[in-house]
Amino acid sequence: MPEVIVALDLPDADAARRFLDQVPATRWVKIGSVLFTSAGPGLVTECRARGLEVFLDLKWHDIPNTVAGAVRAARDLQVSMATVHTLGGAEMMVAASEAADGAMVLVGVTVLTSHDAGSFAEAVGRRSVALGEEVTRLAGAAVRAGLGGVVCSPHEVPAVAALLGPGRSIVVPGIRRPGDAVGDQARAATPESAVRAGATHLVVGRPILQAPDPARVLAEMLAAAAAG
Ligand code: C5P
Repeated sequence: MPEVIVALDLPDADAARRFLDQVPATRWVKIGSVLFTSAGPGLVTECRARGLEVFLDLKWHDIPNTVAGAVRAARDLQVSMATVHTLGGAEMMVAASEAADGAMVLVGVTVLTSHDAGSFAEAVGRRSVALGEEVTRLAGAAVRAGLGGVVCSPHEVPAVAALLGPGRSIVVPGIRRPGDAVGDQARAATPESAVRAGATHLVVGRPILQAPDPARVLAEMLAAAAAG
């Protein structure tokens, strides 16, 4: 059953609480670096007390020992899923996987969607890159290092799903219903098409957060994901 994760891209804990009170059907939330920096681990504990699964999206990229320590801290908070950056390297991802020890799913971020081929090539010191190949290369490195899956755009799901095979998590942002504002998501997809292509977790922010009736939009997203 595919999951719909509400990206709590909100400024502080009070805004998050107001949202959760308004949308009690929420099952999964994504807490990213803005909200985590503002609200702290106490908000994760509050979300767990509300019965929510927490996806902690801090995109760890540091020396192996430090990332392993962050994973252990997230385990203590009963986080269900968290991100590490695949460019941190195999040793870092192995250390993170060992620290998770099956208690949470670690998913790898491959190429940030803010990059184009030129800026990514420049960042990694190569003359040119094919971004699609970089995404699958890094996704392969992630699963070889023991991660449970990857984050990727709707556009990349078919290639990543073929590479990862069943039983891995494919976490996909950029989800829009037909007619929703696409905003800055260059590669959007409907919940049905993302799930059909192999997505296991759909991350949805603004279509729910900015809706006049967010509970109704979440219900529609959940129904569409289930129908996919
Ligand atoms: O508001 P929207 O539905 O576009 O939110 C998508 C969420 O997924 C945001 O929290 C955003 O930071 C995150 N994300 C993304 N694209 C990526 C990786 C993460 O939109 N490539």
